[in-house]
Amino acid sequence: MRLTCIAFSALNVLIAVQASPVSKFSSDCDSFLNVELASGYRVSNSTVFPPGSLNSSGIVNEFTFCRVEGTINYDQDVTAVDKGPNTLAWELYLPASNDYNGRFMAVGNGGYAGDIDEASMITQLNLGYAVGGCDSGHSLADSGNSTYAPFLAKSAQVKAWIHESIAMMTKITRNLTTQYYNETPAFSYYYGCSTGGAQGYALAQFHPEIFDGIYAGCPGNWYSHLMLSFLWNGLHTQGSGFMSQDVLNFITANVISACDSLDGVMDGLIENPLFCEYDIAQLECASGQDPSSNGVVACLTSDQLVAAKATYQGPKNVIDGEEIYPGMELGSESSWLLQETTLYTTYAALILKELVFKDLNYNISTFNWGTDVQKLDQTASPLIDAISPDLSAFHKRGGKLITTQGWADQFNAPLWPIQHRDQVQKTMTEVNITDFIEIFLIPGGGHCGSNPAYPHVPSTYHILDALVPWVEKGVHPAQIRTSDPPDGSNATRKLCPWPKNARYLVGDIDDWASYDCV
Ligand SMILES: *[C@@H]1O[C@H](CO)[C@@H](O)[C@H](O)[C@H]1NC(C)=O
Ligand SMILES: *[C@@H]1O[C@H](CO)[C@@H](O)[C@H](O)[C@H]1NC(C)=O
Ligand SMILES: *[C@@H]1O[C@H](CO)[C@@H](O)[C@H](O)[C@H]1NC(C)=O
Ligand SMILES: *[C@@H]1O[C@H](CO)[C@@H](O)[C@H](O)[C@H]1NC(C)=O
Ligand SMILES: *[C@@H]1O[C@H](CO)[C@@H](O)[C@H](O)[C@H]1NC(C)=O
Ligand SMILES: *[C@@H]1O[C@H](CO)[C@@H](O)[C@H](O)[C@H]1NC(C)=O
Ligand SMILES: *[C@@H]1O[C@H](CO)[C@@H](O)[C@H](O)[C@H]1NC(C)=O
Repeated sequence: MRLTCIAFSALNVLIAVQASPVSKFSSDCDSFLNVELASGYRVSNSTVFPPGSLNSSGIVNEFTFCRVEGTINYDQDVTAVDKGPNTLAWELYLPASNDYNGRFMAVGNGGYAGDIDEASMITQLNLGYAVGGCDSGHSLADSGNSTYAPFLAKSAQVKAWIHESIAMMTKITRNLTTQYYNETPAFSYYYGCSTGGAQGYALAQFHPEIFDGIYAGCPGNWYSHLMLSFLWNGLHTQGSGFMSQDVLNFITANVISACDSLDGVMDGLIENPLFCEYDIAQLECASGQDPSSNGVVACLTSDQLVAAKATYQGPKNVIDGEEIYPGMELGSESSWLLQETTLYTTYAALILKELVFKDLNYNISTFNWGTDVQKLDQTASPLIDAISPDLSAFHKRGGKLITTQGWADQFNAPLWPIQHRDQVQKTMTEVNITDFIEIFLIPGGGHCGSNPAYPHVPSTYHILDALVPWVEKGVHPAQIRTSDPPDGSNATRKLCPWPKNARYLVGDIDDWASYDCV
């Protein structure tokens, strides 16, 4: 695929640093303001934060650290209406040297981004990492609103968003980290989910040299086709096919009662929906039956049944019948309201209007599920997708990649990361990809955390406990522990590397040690 003509000149700009002695103490945080940087780079603030003084969404710093803030001016956008240089804002958190674990961590973004994920940065800081983060190359104002995202009209900003921003940010923040501690970080990691998961695959594909370990959760790395799955699900559930929250809950309750026990444990969720043979058609109203009785959902109308089937199936190409993107899985229904309402209007519609058709009046109901898919593949895909099945450069440099994916993700069809994994294995015939990629499916897991329908499912995933030993000691990740469900219980669970599933052995069903991966 050809990329549109954009020059990433800023990526090649070097910074020259003043030859001043570098202290290892956070009290010298101020010195960053005097660092000389090449044109395009700027440090705007450098401040020491004592423990407990930075609180982002309830995540609070446990250590004293130095926060450096700055910007990078990158590409002159020559094609956009709004020409001129673009600005990326970054932050760097540096723990005092006795709390520093010697490693660099970059964190990614969510959705249309435009802001720095400070809560994720503090989470990593509290583990002792030097942490870099950025706004993905555009401001929150440029992320726009539910009907218009200004950044999508600027090709350099679009390219920065998923493909380039983390690499740009890492080049400067990792250098400053090296200066601060007077040594290069021993290892470099990346941590991101959703759009951040897409950024993770983009790093493995376009910048394989930068990171030793990549965590790419619920990856939207086939972003263009993910948009088509939103569009498909949205358009197929309008009008008489629309399913209210009560109807969706009714479907999920029936699906769970049919398939909960397949894994030998009655725990209110399905271990692997691919093993669940439930036929939704049995929920259709009998002839003459009222779909609700005394305000309680009793069955599905035939239009709702058609809508539900379309959502499980996912978009198909009308020219060749090929799958455009996988569908949603059994057990995820109770979170489909977003698919029926906002995802297709705020995500799919903007990508189609601004990136594909370049027409703000484009009517998304007229999308042609054949020729227009090709058009999307030619216009949006080169700018926002990261789906190369050849990740050999990342493999050769010893990189490791872990993906997690919730089976009950509210946004993303969970089969996509598995399909992509298979494509990589088919392409890289010389290697067994489990040498460097592992995917962990999460039963009852939502989009980058819990699904509200499954509050008893542990939603903290201890990914670095698996990724770091894999990168640094070659310990292959045989399992991942999860903990801290939203319901406040002490349940822990075991995630298994695909295609393995957790099998209950003996003991407390809410203790991860009661399971093995088979
Ligand atoms: C980072 O440091 C390396 C090694 O000193 C240097 O080659 C590179 O130009 C620097 N990059 C940036 C963006 O500062
Ligand atoms: C730097 O950041 C600190 C902490 O947020 C703030 O109090 C201070 O005003 C900032 N300084 C400048 C020059 O912006
Ligand atoms: C952090 O902020 C949240 C509100 O976002 C508040 O509920 C919490 O108490 C604060 N935590 C601390 C330790 O200040
Ligand atoms: C979104 O932003 C555009 C352009 O700034 C504006 O015209 C439009 O009214 C806004 N829409 C909403 C729903 O705020
Ligand atoms: C959009 O297209 C659909 C399908 O052709 C049509 O029914 C609808 O009226 C159109 N909407 C507008 C605003 O033109
Ligand atoms: C790769 O290795 C794993 C674990 O040893 C094995 O189960 C799997 O069959 C291998 N895959 C291929 C394609 O050889
Ligand atoms: C969780 O708490 C229950 C009591 O509420 C206790 O019986 C159980 O041993 C605890 N499990 C673990 C793994 O700590």
